[in-house]
Amino acid sequence: MKITIAENEKEFDTMAAWRIIAEMLANPKAVIGLSTGQTTINLHKIVGDIYRQYPFDISGITLFGVDEVTNVPRNYSGSCYTILKTQITDALGIKESQFLMPPTFSNDFELECRKYEVELEARNGVDLLILGLGKNGHLGFNQPETPFESTTHVSRMDEVLEARIRKETNTPEDKELGGFTLGIKNIMHSRRIILAAKGVEKAKIVREMLFGPVTTRIPASVLQLHPDCEFLLDADAAHG
Ligand code: GLP
Repeated sequence: MKITIAENEKEFDTMAAWRIIAEMLANPKAVIGLSTGQTTINLHKIVGDIYRQYPFDISGITLFGVDEVTNVPRNYSGSCYTILKTQITDALGIKESQFLMPPTFSNDFELECRKYEVELEARNGVDLLILGLGKNGHLGFNQPETPFESTTHVSRMDEVLEARIRKETNTPEDKELGGFTLGIKNIMHSRRIILAAKGVEKAKIVREMLFGPVTTRIPASVLQLHPDCEFLLDADAAHG
């Protein structure tokens, strides 16, 4: 298991950003999965800053979202599409054809899930996946008790996030909101993973993820079994 502990938040953000830049430089056809949330805001911005200062050819790179909220407009400020676009892909000048995101609306999400996997496979699979960590150990929208064999699917999000999105989008209670997400199996098939976690509020779950049993109760614990996963932590998240 590779664990990297950054001294502080700034170092954490910079380290993560350079890992993304390094992957793009080393592999001009890299397929890189991105996650939204508090953890990745600054590191996404730094990727854009580095690129602006040292531009290079990224025409062959694919960026994609690990997950997406369903049944909200794509241009809603809390959709993963809009978040990633404003935080990172616009700054890199990534074209729509190089930016894969799940649809937010569909009559057939099952089909869309299969299509998303086919799209990623057609690009030779995932080279690098940046994952955040839910306080309950979730990965993407894979909530506790999601089977390790799960493939891309639409799941529930946690209640707090769902309540916030419902409020922000004026979505009535009877209309379902969901989370389109790579499954645990897809995550584990990625060639390289960086699990990024910062802040004291993640310290407890970080400890369980790293040193507890591998269990569906804590989806992120499965990463103990991945052959090339780096756990990138800041000091606060590491010292729980
Ligand atoms: C959400 C997202 C995940 C993300 C997680 C962590 O549930 N669906 O992809 O990793 O939150 O968020 P944060 O970084 O805000 O703690």
